[in-house]
Amino acid sequence: MPLQYKYLEKIEKNAGLLGALIALMVSIGGLAEITPLFIKAHTVEPAPGFKPYDPLRLAGKDVYVREGCYACHSQMVRTLRFETQRYGDYSAASESVYDRPFQWGSKRTGPDLARIGGKYSDDWHRLHLLTPRQVVPESNMPNYPWLAERELDGEDIQARMRVLKFLGDPYSDEEIAAAPAAVKDKTELDALVAYLQGLGVYNVAAKEAGHE
Ligand code: HEC
Repeated sequence: MPLQYKYLEKIEKNAGLLGALIALMVSIGGLAEITPLFIKAHTVEPAPGFKPYDPLRLAGKDVYVREGCYACHSQMVRTLRFETQRYGDYSAASESVYDRPFQWGSKRTGPDLARIGGKYSDDWHRLHLLTPRQVVPESNMPNYPWLAERELDGEDIQARMRVLKFLGDPYSDEEIAAAPAAVKDKTELDALVAYLQGLGVYNVAAKEAGHE
């Protein structure tokens, strides 16, 4: 019997050894795939002209996450005809580059919000977030009255921007320095509305230019 078959037989008849060698192979494969992701800041490049969140929208994104809006809303228009007809252009990976954590989701008690920007006025959003049933009587979305009462903390947002910069988002020192002024006297409601109004809007021009 050729030598290699002898080794093979030994491995195949020894469940422990076989298991250990499989684990070794899987780890090598896993490392080869995962390690580059730690070194590269962004695996998907942002489309040209696509910028990280400005301070107000960044604060709004964090309110969105804190309030758990993702429990009822996805932000991912799928590549299916009935989805694009209802919501607009399907979502591209390059649109979520600056979302940490991303908000794609799959639970849709309410509609998808990936393209909500510009669909309604700021006033509509304010009223809808405070008391949804005033504008949509059959809605089962909760009221978020506290958002209008809480002011943003400029230093807190600065700290968040610094961390994002450390993680690879291209914020300049000037932008970080200007953040407290940009959110001065703004409430969490202002921030959340600004965030919603930007969803799906920022990247449209880049997409039309053929970058996805
Ligand atoms: C319990 C589930 C639930 C939660 C949590 C929830 N929503 Fe909703 N949302 C709905 C439903 C249902 C609708 C559709 C009826 C309506 O317009 O109110 C909706 C509608 C919306 C719309 C209008 C969408 C459109 O295309 O007309 C926006 C914007 C929105 N929600 C934002 C939010 C934000 C921001 C949060 C978090 C602060 C949130 N929702 C939390 C259920 C929810």
